[in-house]
Amino acid sequence: MIPRPHSVRLEPGTVAGSPVDSRIDPELPPEGYLLDLSPEGVVLRAGSDAGLFYGRQTLAQLGPPAPCGRIEDAPRFGWRGVLLDVARHFMPVPDVLRFVDLIALHKLNVLHLHLTDDQGWRIEVPGWPRLTSVGAWRSSTMLGSRVHGLFDGRPHGGFYTTADLRRIVAYAAQRHVTVVPEVDMPGHMQAAIAAYPALGNGFDGPVRTGWGVSHHVLNLSEETLAFCRRVLDHVCDIFPSEVIGIGGDECPTDEWPGGRELQVAFTARMAEHLAARGRRVYGWDEILAGGAPAGAVVAAWRGTEPAAAAIRAGHQVVCCPDVRLYLDYRQSDDPGEPTPVGTLLTLEDVYTYEPPDSPLVLGAQANIWTEHMESLRRVEYMAFPRLCALAEMVWGPAGRDFADFAARLPRHLERLDALGVNYRPLAGPRPDDARPDAPGHPRDLADRLAELHRMTADLRGEPE
Ligand code: ACM
Repeated sequence: MIPRPHSVRLEPGTVAGSPVDSRIDPELPPEGYLLDLSPEGVVLRAGSDAGLFYGRQTLAQLGPPAPCGRIEDAPRFGWRGVLLDVARHFMPVPDVLRFVDLIALHKLNVLHLHLTDDQGWRIEVPGWPRLTSVGAWRSSTMLGSRVHGLFDGRPHGGFYTTADLRRIVAYAAQRHVTVVPEVDMPGHMQAAIAAYPALGNGFDGPVRTGWGVSHHVLNLSEETLAFCRRVLDHVCDIFPSEVIGIGGDECPTDEWPGGRELQVAFTARMAEHLAARGRRVYGWDEILAGGAPAGAVVAAWRGTEPAAAAIRAGHQVVCCPDVRLYLDYRQSDDPGEPTPVGTLLTLEDVYTYEPPDSPLVLGAQANIWTEHMESLRRVEYMAFPRLCALAEMVWGPAGRDFADFAARLPRHLERLDALGVNYRPLAGPRPDDARPDAPGHPRDLADRLAELHRMTADLRGEPE
């Protein structure tokens, strides 16, 4: 929900529509603010422009007329994020801007844009035109879980020009949202290899149409590394974010004569390149295997164990455990849920998730993988109200009561109604939310946890 302020002391009376006296006070926490509301008017003090933005949002949500009193507030975590996968389904710029508005409304401050994957390359790169003329388009899209083998037979694609991305970055910055770009490498690269087969290991086929991970990965020649550096330079030119996503997840090694150590060396080279530009690597927790580069920020996604491994290795970490924060996973066992995949992941599961207690934890993010979300409308159905629960979890404070949240939620849903957000109704899916044409494949939590434990054996020093 729009996170509740940490300390609210209300007094009788209301603010009589007077102007706001707002100023930065460097003594306050960077994103924190203090609101003094009296019949004479409003005094807003904040640690930064972001704090002023959050204070004004709170004020707007209080009234009119706003009650009198004092509100002191600051977020618990500096990284309050959402990943939007624009690779599996391309989202046009206006949809991305609307999504930015919706996350800023919830005082979230990071939009992790997953720009490339096996099924589509979405960022124009000067000098590499086939990345978008070929790599941004696939001939068909899978309907539902890959276990069913169904395809729609319709081409899908799109990409962002440099101007589009600059517009997204600027729009987000005005709302105190940092856009963290990700170009996933050296795996999840089939779209790029379809455009430029010389980047691969002999694969000469199209952009992947099926879901799931391609075995066609980058070769690690000097020419291919130069390509990766060129792409990262362009990304750094567009996105001011200090951390730059280079993926690193789920990279099969069977096309390489060497093994996992080749990926470790590759990641180190990319980290070196980013460091020379004053940037740091943001990578999935697979980059911990064999040692992640110093200063790398780890996105811990394979269940809850990798966050602990990142902390043990001294890395800053953003928690996004799939079983608690993957919003493509099904919201209920109602047979009318669209394309139910993953484990059951309720509103309460999101609300009650608690990241490990360590100064290395920067915060948390929800990940919205869009294999089964063909439009922003579908994204909104999967994201809300679970993103409202995430917003309260990352803003804090730590002690939270789900019953209290659930009691306040209907009032907030009225706000979302006013904005036309296609959230999932609390009573369950509407008839037209169902996707019988795109059947799912629900997973059992115990099975998934056992699988995650096996997948992360190397992080515990056990054989893979
Ligand atoms: C991921 O879900 N492969 C990061």
